[in-house]
Amino acid sequence: MMMMMRRMISRALLGPMAALGFRLSLLLLLSAVGYAGAAGACSSVAFSSNRVYAACSDLPRLSSSLHWSYDNASATLSLAFVAPPAKPEGWVAWAINPTGDGMTGSQALIAFHQPDGAMGVQTYNITGLGPIAKGPIDFKTWDLAAEYSGGVTRLYGKMKLAAGTTVVNQVWQVGSAVANGVPQKHDFQQDNLQSKGTVDLVKGAVSLSGGSTTRKRNVHGVLNAVSWGILLPIGAIFARYLKTFKSADPAWFYLHVSCQIIGYGVGVGGWATGLNLGSKSKGIQYTTHRNIGIALFSLATLQVFALFMRPSKDNKYRFYWNIYHYLVGYTVIVLGIVNVFKGLKILSIDHKWTVGYIIAICILGGVALFLEVVTWLIVLKRKSKNPTKPSDGSNSNGVQRPLSV
Ligand SMILES: *[C@@H]1O[C@H](CO)[C@@H](O)[C@H](O)[C@H]1NC(C)=O
Ligand SMILES: *[C@@H]1O[C@H](CO)[C@@H](O)[C@H](O)[C@H]1NC(C)=O
Repeated sequence: MMMMMRRMISRALLGPMAALGFRLSLLLLLSAVGYAGAAGACSSVAFSSNRVYAACSDLPRLSSSLHWSYDNASATLSLAFVAPPAKPEGWVAWAINPTGDGMTGSQALIAFHQPDGAMGVQTYNITGLGPIAKGPIDFKTWDLAAEYSGGVTRLYGKMKLAAGTTVVNQVWQVGSAVANGVPQKHDFQQDNLQSKGTVDLVKGAVSLSGGSTTRKRNVHGVLNAVSWGILLPIGAIFARYLKTFKSADPAWFYLHVSCQIIGYGVGVGGWATGLNLGSKSKGIQYTTHRNIGIALFSLATLQVFALFMRPSKDNKYRFYWNIYHYLVGYTVIVLGIVNVFKGLKILSIDHKWTVGYIIAICILGGVALFLEVVTWLIVLKRKSKNPTKPSDGSNSNGVQRPLSV
């Protein structure tokens, strides 16, 4: 009701205000258009049984919308939640969480085809992330009903909230299956994880929560893609190909070490943000991504410490150290790239980031391939010039065998 009044007031003001100057009127016009636009999208939904709601909001996730009337004095909420279930035989849910902003603790209304085939709504007190069971919830509910048509479910209900309530944490969700009358687990795409926030029942403002998590996930992705996915491979390229030229000795060594140390430093930062994200996402585990991440961190740390135990060039154990260094180094690079792809898939962000990373890796691979060919050509040329020269990996012509360890 307040919403309607505000809309009427803003419309009434629009005429006289126009005289106040172009900028001001433009500003008002824009905000009025904003109002009208929001109302247009929501009001295109007509409800059966003459159900009418004073306010509505297109929810920012899962293509859904909430329509409601709220009587602040008696804390009575009448609502319609409209959403397409993930599959026609699936379910849609709308909930208030009086104790937190996620699924756990939410007091849910879930609509789906009941075992008898008719659409119906049940209430669920969601106590954890496991299977759910219908039962009483914290709020008194009545007039629960649901309809399904055209791929969209409409869930209706009335609720008595705690006296004085104006802002609630809402959680909404859609699922693809119901088994024996029990809604089954929903997907864990970004949209499914971000479909929560607050709704101000009096002012009509809807906000999303979890924005900071999205930011953290992106920071985690960038740090790790740059370090494990790009810097470490570049460092390996320095070591493998610059080494061929004696004039680049010992520059290649410092380039290699700097690149890997910076990569490792940034990578540890990315790793820590990953641990933090993991500890926050209770109930959702990306086991493979996490295990590869832990293996990567351990191997890379080993690699850094092994640097200090490197035997001198003439030491007979240097040969074995080199083999170890190559094996672990290449394992880290391969695992790093694999894990960046796993992470990109989990983020399920815009395709262009994945394409961008694939291009970066292809460029690095192309450069490595080109240098590999050049190196072999140099070496073969050297060899044909000095066929009798024993090759000890570092001959007087300033060329090393590419595969010398
Ligand atoms: C919902 O579950 C919580 C946790 O088990 C419990 O404390 C609460 O009383 C339940 N609410 C209702 C209405 O049963
Ligand atoms: C809503 O009702 C409560 C009392 O139930 C009152 O204290 C509060 O000021 C009202 N809020 C609005 C915005 O009308």
